[in-house]
Amino acid sequence: MRGQKVSMLLGCALLCSASLLYLGLSGIDCPRPDHAHHHTWADAHQGSTNQSQASSIYYGEDTPLIFIGGFPRSGTTLMRAMLDAHDAVRCGEETRVIPRLLAMRATWSRSARERVRLDEAGVTDQVLDSAVRAFLLEVIIGHGEPAARLCNKDPFALKSLSYLARIFPQAKFVLMLRDGRATVHSMISRKVTISGFDLTSYRDCLTKWSRAVEGMYSQCQGAPEGSCLPVRYEQLVLHPEEEMRKLLSFLGLPWDPAVLHHEDLIGKAGGVSLSKVERSSDQVVNPVNTDALSKWVGHIPSDVLREMDDIAPMLARLGYDPLANPPNYGRPDPILPHNNYTLLQRTPETPHPS
Ligand code: A3P
Repeated sequence: MRGQKVSMLLGCALLCSASLLYLGLSGIDCPRPDHAHHHTWADAHQGSTNQSQASSIYYGEDTPLIFIGGFPRSGTTLMRAMLDAHDAVRCGEETRVIPRLLAMRATWSRSARERVRLDEAGVTDQVLDSAVRAFLLEVIIGHGEPAARLCNKDPFALKSLSYLARIFPQAKFVLMLRDGRATVHSMISRKVTISGFDLTSYRDCLTKWSRAVEGMYSQCQGAPEGSCLPVRYEQLVLHPEEEMRKLLSFLGLPWDPAVLHHEDLIGKAGGVSLSKVERSSDQVVNPVNTDALSKWVGHIPSDVLREMDDIAPMLARLGYDPLANPPNYGRPDPILPHNNYTLLQRTPETPHPS
């Protein structure tokens, strides 16, 4: 009897310690609250040459991220390469997963019925937003070098511009705009596939270009005051210094002449990292040039040209004359002397970590 009692007591004690241990461990595994979500690039790049430099940089949800986007083939890669050349900024390659997650997030709340089901399960908008914010931040921080200002360039992420502005209230948005005829000619001639676009038809692509750009442009216009800047590709390549000065002032960044010669910093530490598989890398290795401005002229079927204003109403709305082939985009600035700037505090010998 006495033996039985001792065994029972021992069993209880064991059970209690196991429960305490389990509770303790699960406490350790608990996700951190949003405001404590800090990272270092070094965490994700153990052993990297830049680790000591990186270890002191922390990022949180209030990081003033920069999002660059727009319709693909609108000069988005050139824009991010020019910004990557800035001493304080890192954009890096397209992540590809960010626009996909944003598109998925948009579908979760679209149906009222699904919304009720999610709320019932405790998966509120607040829970979802917090998870999406953490995912985005993790990807943006982890896929490249640390920098004082982190930036993301995934063209279609700006389809969710209003949502991004809500979950990252300190973020700034740069919307690249380009004459839709040039954009569509670029897609078709370079065979850049975009889901839902028929690359055999200028009419189809121009119609869909117009709709997609309308969505992003309206969100840019409706974004909180001073948070979204539309930049026209034509103006960027014709007047790079003027446009970049405007952009850096909008981003609250000091002028850095390196942004006018991004090509010198390709593959260098703290410079411009290009992807081997992105379709624009071949063009971005070149200095800023005006070669692509009017390449589309002579390629669009005459029936499409005649109805251009109806097919692509965004052309006129953005100030591109729909009936001029090509419109007058303006005159380029005189070519800049190539070595009129110094690359301060850069280490060209160090290979880029990516
Ligand atoms: P084309 O295909 O008409 O030549 P995105 O990066 O948004 O896909 O945009 C691609 C367009 O940006 C391409 O247009 C490309 O030529 C242009 N571009 C890339 N690098 C450039 C540079 N250094 N100067 C001028 N335009 C550039």
